[in-house]
Amino acid sequence: MKILNYGSLNIDYTYSVDHFVRGGETMSSEEMHVFSGGKGLNQSIALSKSGAEVWHAGAIGTGDGDFLIRQLKEAGVNTEYISVLDGKTGHAIIQKAKDGGNCILLFGGANQQITREMVDGVMDHFEKGDYLVLQNEISEIGYIMERAREKGMVLVFNPSPMDDKISSYPLEYVDYFLLNEIEAGDICGEQGSGEELLQKLSDKFPASKIVLTLGGDGSLYRDGQRILTQGIYKVPVADTTAAGDTFTGFLIGGLVQGLDAGEALDLAAKAAAIAVSRPGAAPSIPSREEVEAFEG
Ligand code: RIB
Repeated sequence: MKILNYGSLNIDYTYSVDHFVRGGETMSSEEMHVFSGGKGLNQSIALSKSGAEVWHAGAIGTGDGDFLIRQLKEAGVNTEYISVLDGKTGHAIIQKAKDGGNCILLFGGANQQITREMVDGVMDHFEKGDYLVLQNEISEIGYIMERAREKGMVLVFNPSPMDDKISSYPLEYVDYFLLNEIEAGDICGEQGSGEELLQKLSDKFPASKIVLTLGGDGSLYRDGQRILTQGIYKVPVADTTAAGDTFTGFLIGGLVQGLDAGEALDLAAKAAAIAVSRPGAAPSIPSREEVEAFEG
């Protein structure tokens, strides 16, 4: 069984700020760092570091994004399905506040130049029972879902960042949703408590397994048989960027490697805690050994 992650590759320009810049304000930042990022790249690295074998598909521009492919390779990710296109690599401008929280401005670049022909070329290499992991930072998500369904792949969808296009995707094909409360509320058409959102999502997508993340309150899991709850591991916060991606990668990686959902949730919560305690997106993602040695 193989894992294909068809997702974004971004250059993250991270600025340390006193507060998030306001409309009309010009503000100096205290530090600036350039990191590898993109929800797709981060999740591929987390999947691979959890011990799973993963193929990343996506696109970078010419000349500026080569280090993203190098970092994927260094993390053990297969990169032969990444295209290099004319134009710019996607990037993110991230303001990181003193409490580790952030706000992010995206430029899609090559991530938004994925075509159906490119998708078909990649999907030819995967088959029934293989996993497909998707976020919402590339073009042709709906088409990729259709192709995965035709093939009988297991579809994992992290609907982030949320936008209007999501309601046009065939979400009934999704086997695993990994999403936060805001995303869940948008998909259900109304907000609510964690338990209410879990119920509404299950009513709407009865065949799907749902992992709802609740920030500091941990996460909830629901499948046909059971509901599980998972707390967070509290650590000093350095940078929350990619904590959710680390959680997703370790959770799916754990499941694919045979862990029970409860064990995979705990592994993912530990991995996310370590990521939060370190700066940057992809560089903050721990190894499986570090996660297993973590005592919380
Ligand atoms: O989830 C964090 C990621 O979101 C960052 O790495 C940034 O690139 C954006 O895609």
